[in-house]
Amino acid sequence: MCGIVGIVGCKEKLGDMLLDSIKKLEYRGYDSAGITTVSENKILIRKDVGKIDEVNKKVNFSELKGNIGLGHTRWATCGRVTKENSHPHTDCKEEISIVHNGIIENHSELKKELIEKGHKFQSETDTEVIAHLIEDNYDGDIKEATTKALKKIEGSYALGIISAKEPEKLIAARNESPLIIGVGKNENFIASDVPAILSHTKKIIYLDNKELAVLTQDNITVFDLNGNEIKKEINEIDWNAEMAEKQGYTHFMLKEIHEQPRALTETINGRIKNNRVDLKEELNLSSKELSEIKRIVIVACGTSWHAALAGEFMFEELAKISTEVEYASEFRYRHPIISKDDLLIAISQSGETADTLAALREAKKQGAKILSICNVKGSSIDRESDIVLYTHAGPEIGVASTKAFTTQLVVLYLLTLYLSQLRKTLDDNTIQDLIANLRKLPLQLEKVFNNEEEIKKLANIYYNKSNALYLGRGVNYPIALEGALKLKEISYIHAEGYPAAEMKHGPIALIDKEMPVIFVAPKDIYTYKKVLSNIEEVKARGGIVIVIATEGDEEIKKIVDHVIYIPKNLYTLSSILAVVPLQLLAYYIAKKRGCDIDRPKNLSKVVTVE
Ligand code: M6R
Repeated sequence: MCGIVGIVGCKEKLGDMLLDSIKKLEYRGYDSAGITTVSENKILIRKDVGKIDEVNKKVNFSELKGNIGLGHTRWATCGRVTKENSHPHTDCKEEISIVHNGIIENHSELKKELIEKGHKFQSETDTEVIAHLIEDNYDGDIKEATTKALKKIEGSYALGIISAKEPEKLIAARNESPLIIGVGKNENFIASDVPAILSHTKKIIYLDNKELAVLTQDNITVFDLNGNEIKKEINEIDWNAEMAEKQGYTHFMLKEIHEQPRALTETINGRIKNNRVDLKEELNLSSKELSEIKRIVIVACGTSWHAALAGEFMFEELAKISTEVEYASEFRYRHPIISKDDLLIAISQSGETADTLAALREAKKQGAKILSICNVKGSSIDRESDIVLYTHAGPEIGVASTKAFTTQLVVLYLLTLYLSQLRKTLDDNTIQDLIANLRKLPLQLEKVFNNEEEIKKLANIYYNKSNALYLGRGVNYPIALEGALKLKEISYIHAEGYPAAEMKHGPIALIDKEMPVIFVAPKDIYTYKKVLSNIEEVKARGGIVIVIATEGDEEIKKIVDHVIYIPKNLYTLSSILAVVPLQLLAYYIAKKRGCDIDRPKNLSKVVTVE
């Protein structure tokens, strides 16, 4: 949840370099920020509460000198949001400086022992315990002292450590919290996530759990906690630095909404051959194994969970495979029954969500095959899965997930078609028709943006409301949930999503002239007419109705207050188009309310705590 960055061998102005890099991680947390460097054999630290720019105004990071340093942006877990609790933290003599992401579970016991030994603490954090523990074990070798300290701590950590006595070494360590090493030329880096160092290097080493690395400006050595050296692979990543910039958009979220046509194209590309979906190379399971899957269980959180609900609809409707969707956070605590014939699908944009990772491990323990749908190569979920289908969305920085969601839906659709082909649940003509319609999506999405001004006008009318209801049926129910989540996350308006027909069982009591109700109602052969009745029910009670409808549906216009049209496509695929106006509506409402859209309060992009 916090963001960490570090460099050894810096050639530029160190303070500016670290400031620039932590800004690229601000989506991970923004309660407070800090930078530490070593200059003239002294640890220097500047830190304070607030967003990075506010902190920088107070402390002027640019003045920090040296060629080794660490930066941190915090999402508070242990200890209040205060200057003292901001990272970096130091030992008693201020010779060791550390930044941390994660939670040290036995910090209270360790702190007690250290206080008894005479250590003086300045903060309420678990992190400071690590600094003192390293100090306590220090005997002239920072790597040895860190290894000894790590053996005593329980919990999750991604750590960056520097020392005034050994200013040529940057120590990095990880357990259950993401940390990567960037390999540069006469300079090396660590970071919580790739965007922080993309402008410096595309060569990445992924640290695994309970590994510790010693970085100097021209060398990187990785060890296990027994001191054995581990050979690590260097991976070349295919994201470029521009992909992690705003490129003229006012917010990352708006940029990412607009990137969806391209992201969809890249997610489809290479996966359709001769009018068939071809995932053979990516799915390293035999056709026999795939045909024999008895049940699919999908685990995910938040927006990815909404994608999972849409996936359930696809797998059951088209591939005829019984599917269950679980909140990853609930999965392992309710004693799930998983068998070897089950395929467990974990969906995660970041690949680091602790709840999803824990659910995946539980299913693995019970013998299920694990397939993940993930946007970040080298992430924990990616590495712990048997099979990975990547969403080629590019880096998603905005805390509110947008392009990750639509690309997840596309991957689920491709997987559904592939399984349908293998299991022969659809004939060739139907498959070809579905593929042709899938291919139309990116262009159709471009057309959705023609309505952006209209959506902005709607936002200007309704931005002051306190509540909103989002309703949809079938595959559009998860779209309604996603629309509601987007609105509440970034505008702080209370919003709920429901299956449209469920409204009459309770939420209808909320309808009055102050309540905007957003219906996701593209024309389909299944539920469209029933949804029209639900719309009438809202209108009869004075509610305001905004509807996402299919182009050419003139009838619906007559009974609602506002219509946003989306191009016509097949029922399931139209849901991918329908979510985009909802993303834009949430965005423009939040903008009109003056909200900090890319850094909504209390949220973090990567939730690495359970
Ligand atoms: O990285 P993941 O897809 O695993 O993240 C899951 C949720 O934390 C995430 O979707 C969250 O709900 C977003 N803020 C939604 O916009």
